[in-house]
Amino acid sequence: MPKNSERSVASTQDLGPSSQDPAPRTRLLEPSAQELAPRTLLVTGGAGFIGSNFIRHVLSAHDDVRVVNYDKLTYAGNLENLADVNDGERYQFVRGDISDPKAVAKAFENEKPWAVVSFAAESHVDRSILDATPFVDTNVKGTQVLLETIRRYPVERFVQISTDEVYGALGEEGTFTESSPIHANSPYAACKAAADLIALAYAKTYALPVVVTRSSNNYGSYQFPEKLVPLMIRNALTGKELPIYGEGKQVRDWLHVEDNCRAIDIVLHKGLTGEVYNIGGECEKRNIEVVKFICEILRNHPGTQDLRPKIQFIKDPRGAAHDFRYALDCSKIKRELGWTPLLGFEEGLERTVAWYLSNREWTERVITGEYQEYYRKVYGA
Ligand code: NAD
Ligand code: TYD
Repeated sequence: MPKNSERSVASTQDLGPSSQDPAPRTRLLEPSAQELAPRTLLVTGGAGFIGSNFIRHVLSAHDDVRVVNYDKLTYAGNLENLADVNDGERYQFVRGDISDPKAVAKAFENEKPWAVVSFAAESHVDRSILDATPFVDTNVKGTQVLLETIRRYPVERFVQISTDEVYGALGEEGTFTESSPIHANSPYAACKAAADLIALAYAKTYALPVVVTRSSNNYGSYQFPEKLVPLMIRNALTGKELPIYGEGKQVRDWLHVEDNCRAIDIVLHKGLTGEVYNIGGECEKRNIEVVKFICEILRNHPGTQDLRPKIQFIKDPRGAAHDFRYALDCSKIKRELGWTPLLGFEEGLERTVAWYLSNREWTERVITGEYQEYYRKVYGA
């Protein structure tokens, strides 16, 4: 198989921006006729939930792309999430920390990526409230290290994967657009907001080809069981209570991970430098509705009909940092890039529950002693 060769380095240098030239705003990153060897896409955090789904998506959607997955393998990163692509010729794993400048430079030197999509992050709000330090280290410093590295090793695109949480909380009405003010409330959201701002500042200051995506709550296969949907499924299957924070009235907009991966792929290829794109599922639900729907799916599923999951309302561990409602206006990505979510919540959640039922061993294998200790701290059980 052709390796990422000098030819692709040359093409990067020809097309990539330098600190002297303003970055072209429009980049259709399709290969030219001469570019037949696979182009290397560096994905950071590809062993996590969305990153692993994205790598699977890219490898099946683009024959001409080779993926290097650069991941530290924290508690949330599992190579098992990519067991089906692990042996593929177009996939390679490199273990490393995005906040380690030498390790990142080495990966760029060795792999000569054509583009970067950066998922690597500490991603759980509750953990950021217990200890914000790893969030600053990875989400803020790590993003800046990647951007500095790109100044030395130019790429054609850097996609910063971000979240609707940077906009803060809404009341019962309204939606966030890309120009809504940043108003992060939790340490997690603040660190993601800082990373977005640094990335956009590097686009302006150094003409780096940065694009930012801000998506709503993802759900789907391979999500670590600390987040709402997989935690509730696992607790129901293992006879534990289903812990709802406060009264469960908070509202999230739910987006199936495959719809998000499709959107990120479109932004990678067609997004405009310096722009932010909201990606939402247009599917707002209160937490209690989501949990009740999971119980209903389990009740109707052969094999789990006899389960009697019990909902337990617990004191909200997020306190004042618990945002009431998120909702995104996604008209920009629809209008400008032609994306729209395809999977409805009912079908998406049914498929997700079915995946967790068929992959119970996966859930138990990814759970470590560290997670059990964390679980006791938050849920006291
Ligand atoms: P995840 O926690 O499942 O995965 C994170 C991955 O990053 C893991 O594989 C982990 O090992 C890796 N990682 C962590 N620190 C690292 C470091 N210093 N260096 C290299 N790798 C490191 O997260 P996810 O849910 O897949 O989220 C991916 C991205 O999407 C994050 O940036 C998150 O902020 C964003 N996002 C997530 C959601 C969601 O609903 N899950 C919604 C919006 C945005
Ligand atoms: P989560 O999946 O952690 O995503 P985020 O905080 O990024 O929105 O939580 C989704 C919602 O579910 C949030 O309002 C908190 C709530 N929640 C519970 O009620 N119980 C739980 O055990 C968890 C993990 C979350």
